[in-house]
Amino acid sequence: MRDNSIGNILSNWESHHASLFGEHSLKLRHSLDKSRLFSDKALIALLENVPREHYHVTTMEKGAHNPGYKREGDFGDLSGEEILEAVKRGSLWINFQNPDKIGGEYGELLRDIYAEFEARVPGLKTYKHKMTILISSPNLKVKYHFDLPGQTLWQIRGKKRVYVYPPKAPFLTRNGLEKVTINEAHETDLQYHEWFDDHAEVYELEPGQMLHWPLNCPHRIENHDCLNVSLTTEHWTKPLRNIYAVNYGNAMLRKLGLNRLAEHTGPANLYPKAAITAATKLTGMQERQKKPFMIDFVVDPSLPDCIRNIEPFQLDT
Ligand SMILES: [Fe+2]
Repeated sequence: MRDNSIGNILSNWESHHASLFGEHSLKLRHSLDKSRLFSDKALIALLENVPREHYHVTTMEKGAHNPGYKREGDFGDLSGEEILEAVKRGSLWINFQNPDKIGGEYGELLRDIYAEFEARVPGLKTYKHKMTILISSPNLKVKYHFDLPGQTLWQIRGKKRVYVYPPKAPFLTRNGLEKVTINEAHETDLQYHEWFDDHAEVYELEPGQMLHWPLNCPHRIENHDCLNVSLTTEHWTKPLRNIYAVNYGNAMLRKLGLNRLAEHTGPANLYPKAAITAATKLTGMQERQKKPFMIDFVVDPSLPDCIRNIEPFQLDT
């Protein structure tokens, strides 16, 4: 059932925002921070029912401007309340993927979010929606990276600073974009220099504020000194998919030694490249290998960072 306590999800939308959506960063107010779906009680219930393949709990290099390493952990047999308490005090970052597959109300919310975007942006038609709840410790940072789908970040609790960089060289090189598109590099493999920050848009996000940025903009996040609960939503549209197909086709042609490749999505360029993308995907040649990951800590509220090192073990998901 729709959470009627929140009314319209976007609370200060104006008609001119439609012409900015997807083209420029858009910081708006929303009402999700008032939703009971993100109360402590709701988060604890989610954490206690999460299938192992739906979550990552990580810790990363502390103090670094752009964290160099990230470690994967496990909740062990802690209760949801203990996990939440550990995130408040420790150095932990939980990515809770697809809560909509566990609780129907989250699925409804995801549909409502995109129904509202589509109602407000003429011609917008989105699909392949994805939701991830982020529950993260004070002062943690997320490494410089970009994402392939359209992205929106919704702040529910706590404060964070978001740096958004232009989606072109030197911030995002063609080579970086194409290698990630064909699964030959990871989103966080992009080269980053501190001077990039001089060219970033910098946003402070507080509860009830969201940020949507143009496709493929690299970004970096710094939590303030407080627990953060946020939501990311991802989507595709036909134009985004066309850009993806051209980038994919170009990446494959570049592997064959071709250069000077057109990047526009007009039919003469799109159709042959979409055909290359489809053919490659059919062979499974460039499929992202589902890599097992190594778990080397468990969450332990009795320790300072709430991290207990363990003998690493491999988790296949
Ligand atoms: Fe991201």
